[in-house]
Amino acid sequence: MSYPFQIRSFEEYQQKYKESVEAPEKFWADIAENFLWRKKWDKVLEWNFAEPKVEWFKGAKLNITENCIDRHLNTSGETPALIWEPNNPEERTRVVTYNRLHKRVCQVAQMLKNNGVKKGDRVCIYMGMVPELAYAVLGCARIGAIHSVIFGGFSAQSIADRLEDAHAEYIITCDGAFRGEKVIPLKDVIDDALIGNKTVKKVIVYTRTRNPISMIRGRDIWWEDEMHYAEEQVEKHGKAFFKAEEMDAEDPLFILYTSGSTGKPKGVVHTCAGYMIYTAYTFVNVFQYQPKQIFFCTADIGWITGHSYIVYGPLSAGATSLMFEGIPTWPDAGRFWDIVDKYKVDVLYTAPTAIRSLMGFGDEPLKGKDLSSLKVLGTVGEPINEEAWHWYDENIGKKKCPIVDTWWQTETGGILISNLAGVTSSKPSWATLPLPGIQPLLVDENGKEVTEKDEHGLLKGNLCIKAPWPAIIRTTYGDPERCRKNYFATYPNLYFSGDGALKDEQGNYRITGRVDDVLNVSGHRIGTAEVENAINMHSGVVESAVVGYPHSIKGQGIYSYVITNGMHGDADSTRKDIAQTVSRIIGPFAKPDKIQFVKGLPKTRSGKIMRRILRKIAEGETENLGDTTTLLDPGIVDEIKKGKV
Ligand code: WTA
Repeated sequence: MSYPFQIRSFEEYQQKYKESVEAPEKFWADIAENFLWRKKWDKVLEWNFAEPKVEWFKGAKLNITENCIDRHLNTSGETPALIWEPNNPEERTRVVTYNRLHKRVCQVAQMLKNNGVKKGDRVCIYMGMVPELAYAVLGCARIGAIHSVIFGGFSAQSIADRLEDAHAEYIITCDGAFRGEKVIPLKDVIDDALIGNKTVKKVIVYTRTRNPISMIRGRDIWWEDEMHYAEEQVEKHGKAFFKAEEMDAEDPLFILYTSGSTGKPKGVVHTCAGYMIYTAYTFVNVFQYQPKQIFFCTADIGWITGHSYIVYGPLSAGATSLMFEGIPTWPDAGRFWDIVDKYKVDVLYTAPTAIRSLMGFGDEPLKGKDLSSLKVLGTVGEPINEEAWHWYDENIGKKKCPIVDTWWQTETGGILISNLAGVTSSKPSWATLPLPGIQPLLVDENGKEVTEKDEHGLLKGNLCIKAPWPAIIRTTYGDPERCRKNYFATYPNLYFSGDGALKDEQGNYRITGRVDDVLNVSGHRIGTAEVENAINMHSGVVESAVVGYPHSIKGQGIYSYVITNGMHGDADSTRKDIAQTVSRIIGPFAKPDKIQFVKGLPKTRSGKIMRRILRKIAEGETENLGDTTTLLDPGIVDEIKKGKV
C-alpha cells in the first residue's frame, strides 16, 4: 500500500494547504477516493456552525472495518496489524496479522449478533489493553453498534453515569487487568456500576487475570464460550466471514465521554466516514508513516488518542500498530526502551508526562538499549516544556528523529495542528502549523480576531477553528444543545477549543493550555466542577473549589480549597478520606494533590468564586492577585495565603 495523499515536501504542504482552504470539497473528495465505499457520496459537505450541523460525504455508504481490515487482505493479509506486548515481559508476545484480525473481528461481530446486539445499540467497553479490546471495538463497528470505551481507571460511579447517559444495553469487560504489579478488578467495578442499573442486558467477560469474579446467571457470559460458538458459525461456509453492516457516512461510530467545564462528562459523538478519512490522512502525514514500519502509540484505547492512533488511523492505513498492556515504569523505568529495542519500533508517540517522568530516572534505564530503529517521535495531550522536548530529542531520538508535537482534542477526532515529521520544521514546545483543511483563528474575549502583537512579536488569544474538517464532533450524545453551547456558542460561527494559544510571525502555533475550568493532569482531562462535586460528596465537606497548579511531572496538579463542618479525626486523615472519596466517585487519577482547609472562599457579592485568585495562590503568587475590592470579604484572601499547603 502506498499513500497517494502523503505530503513529501514543504512546498507540497503549502500547495495542499492552499487547495484545502480554497476548495475544501474537492480537496477532501480527492482523498476520499482512496477508500472503499459501498456507495459514493452525493455531496461532500453541508454545514453551518449556528445549529451546528456538519455532514461529510452525505449519502455515501461504507463500513469502516472493511477499510481497516478487508481491503488489506489481498495484499497484506500476513502483515501484522497489531503487535501486543504484555504487561509481564516474560509472557508471550502476540502478533495479530490482518488475516487473523479479520477472523477475530468477524467472530466478535457474530457473537454480538448472537446476543441480540443490533445496529445503533450502545455497547460499553471496559477492558484492559489486550488485543480483545481492539477486536471488541472493531466488532461493534462491523455490525454498526456504537461503542463507548471507558478508560480502565474510572470508578464504578463514573461508569454508572456513562451507562445511564448512553442508555447502554451491553458491556464487554475483562475479569481484571494487569498494570505493573497490580491487578485491577474490572469485573468487580462493573458489578458495582450495575447496582440499580436498568438498561444493561448482557455483560460479556473476557478472561485475562483469572482473579475470582462473580458471574450472574442470565446477565454475565464468558467471551471464550461465546467466541467459540461464533467461530463455528462464521466458519460454516469454509472461510470465516461476517458480512459488514452497510453504514451511512453520518451514522454514529462511537461515543467517547470527556470532561468539560461544567457538570457531568459529555458523550462526544463521531461518525463513520469523516472520522475514518481524517484519522487515516493525519496518521500518514503527521508521522510520515511508511509501509511495514512499526508504530507504537503508548496511549490507552480508553482515550481518544488510542481510538484514533492505535486502532482506526493505523489500521485504515494498513499499518502495524503496537499495543502495550503495561506501564512505562514496570518492571523498571526502561520498559519503553526495551519495547523499542525488542520490536525495532520506527515511530514512538507518547505523552509529555511520560517523558518527564522517565527523564527523572536519568540515563541508567537507557543503557544497553538499541534505539536506532526510531525515525519519528511524537507527543500529545498537553504542552511539552522545552527541557522535556530536548531530553526526548537528545536521549531518545539521538537528534536524528523529527519530533511532532500534535495538538488536538477528543472533539476534533484527529490531529489539527502539528508539524509533519521531517517535512515541515519543528520548534521546541510549539505545535507549529495547521494541517491542510484546518483554519485556526485567535480571538479575544469578545470574539474579535487578535491582531496586535506583543513585545516578542507574538499574537495571543483563544484558539478557534473557522470551518469544519471531516472528524469534527457531530453532537453530544442525547443532548445536542450541550454541543452547541460548549463549542459553537462562545463565538458565533467558530468552533471554540477551550485552549489558549500564541502565534508567531511564521504562522506557528504554541498551545498554552486551557482557558476554561478544565484541568489537564498527566494528559488526562478533568473538569474542576467534577472534582468539586466529588469532594463535596464527602460528609464532612461544606464547600470546595478546585484549581490547577504547575506540577513538574504531571504538567498540572489538582489543588483544592475545602471548607469542612468540623473534622472527624486530624487534618491528615480527613485529607486522606477526601482523596479516597474522589477516587471512589471519579477514579484514582482525579485525586487532589493538595488539600487546603479554609474558612471561606473568595466570592464576589453575587456569590461567584474568584478562581483567578485561588489559581494565583496555588501557583505560589502572593503579591499580584489583581483586584480584590469586589470581594464580599477581602480579608479571606490573606487567610488563604497564610494557610497555603
Ligand atoms: C491539550 C487529547 C498542548 C489541550 C488528544 C486540549 C495539548 C486537550 C496538546 C485535549 C499539545 C492536547 N500541546 N496541549 N500537543 N494536545 N493538548 O480531549 O489542552 O484528552 O484541549 O485529547 O489536551 O485533551 P483530550
